[in-house]
Amino acid sequence: MDAQREVWSARSVFILAAIGSAVGLGNIWRFPYVAYTNGGGAFIIPYLIALLTAGIPLLFFDYAIGHKFRASPPLAFRRISRWAEGLGWWQVGICFVIAVYYAVIIAWAARYAIFSIGEAWGDDPEGFLFGTFLQQEDGARVGFDLVPGVAITLLLIWIATLVVLAFGVQRGIGSSARIFVPLLVVLFLALVVRALFLDGAVEGLNAFFQPDWSILTNPTVWIAAYGQIFFSLSIAFGIMITYASYLKLKTNMTSSGLVVAFSNSSFEILAGIGVFAALGYMAAAAAVPIDEVVGGGIGLAFIAFPQIISAMPGGSIFGAVFFTCLVFAGFTSLISIVQVVIAAVEDKLGMSRLTAVAIVGGSMTVISMALFPTTTGVGVLDVVDKFVNNLGIVGVALVAIVSVIWFLRQGPAFAEHLNAVSSFRLGIIWRICIGVATPVVLAYMLISEMITLVQDGYEGYPASFVLGLGWAVQGALIVIAIVLSMTPWRQGTDLTPPEATKFIKQGGSR
Ligand code: ALA
Repeated sequence: MDAQREVWSARSVFILAAIGSAVGLGNIWRFPYVAYTNGGGAFIIPYLIALLTAGIPLLFFDYAIGHKFRASPPLAFRRISRWAEGLGWWQVGICFVIAVYYAVIIAWAARYAIFSIGEAWGDDPEGFLFGTFLQQEDGARVGFDLVPGVAITLLLIWIATLVVLAFGVQRGIGSSARIFVPLLVVLFLALVVRALFLDGAVEGLNAFFQPDWSILTNPTVWIAAYGQIFFSLSIAFGIMITYASYLKLKTNMTSSGLVVAFSNSSFEILAGIGVFAALGYMAAAAAVPIDEVVGGGIGLAFIAFPQIISAMPGGSIFGAVFFTCLVFAGFTSLISIVQVVIAAVEDKLGMSRLTAVAIVGGSMTVISMALFPTTTGVGVLDVVDKFVNNLGIVGVALVAIVSVIWFLRQGPAFAEHLNAVSSFRLGIIWRICIGVATPVVLAYMLISEMITLVQDGYEGYPASFVLGLGWAVQGALIVIAIVLSMTPWRQGTDLTPPEATKFIKQGGSR
């Protein structure tokens, strides 16, 4: 056992940190729109099936790897097999890429929390967003002309993130989760209750929950449901492996996982209710059908919400709270994503935490600052986000399952490990989900997404732009992962699997 490894002081801290990681931008601005455009109320069915057949099984898969092998993803996979280390680096690369743009969206939200007070967008939220605030130029290219208002806020977000991480797992990540997660829940509940009392809220909820059952035969709806679950639960890209590696050996793993998964989904559905109640109000105020006021992604949070804020009584406070919720939710997720990269470098090179935070966090800050708070940053963000989510995460999840469950045959050992400490026991159903259902769905998602991207490109961006920022970045992550997996470990690293399961069975509890 690695006597030096940091630990969470209690299971509750781990659960809060894991919820903090899971509940993020994906829940508040992505879920409501994805659900609405994919069948409304009927989307709940593919969504729940995705949660039960892939989300929770993969969460347990990540927990088993992190907890049994007690390391960041590269070392944990290396301890499973010499040939699996690259999978861990691939996940680390994905976290690197997600972190550098995820931080930017938090920076936008932080500025909008302040803009809300004076409703700085006036009567043109769209022009304000892309023109006055983000200063985006026409056309797609990678430029480096910084937009100072965004850049300074982004720098502050990075400094805050690195300060938390410098304090370490328990004092930094654990303490920030203990503060921000309860605060987020209270603030968000207040928002939802307020939204439900707005005129038109009922029409909004009707639009959101109106089931369109015909969508159940549409494969793209199922892909959307599985994609939403992977990103939202923070699974398959190393976060849960890393967080589980800091748990004491005697920890009820599977019931913790169920708490995390259902809390995340509850928050997501709550977000859908709040957002659609508010959209219903806006549609009523403007006397237009609800589908005319719904937008996805950037448009929903940064164009539709400002319109709602301007229209409603007390809108400024509502807006400030809404964007503060986005910042809190995003911040605890960003911390978890960056921690994966830092933990991997600590393990591989034997760096101290502070050095790793300074060097790794510093490089991520520089790259994030150079590419995104610029006059060309939105297009870059859009393409990188699309590819890393739809190809990167799905690809690494598929290859990890095929390697570890099919070829290395670790399924029974993982179940045995989790069952040795947990009250909710894994059996044949978990084996079928992780060994058959999940990889089949993942393979289908990956292939169909690749075909669509090759045939149609993405959102009309020039082919060279999509090639460079989309395909090339995702390809480079795989090449870099292979190269890193061939570099030597620091002297004295224990590359053999720790006997965690045996230790637990003998009654150990460290
Ligand atoms: N799970 C995080 C989110 O939903 C990454 O935003």
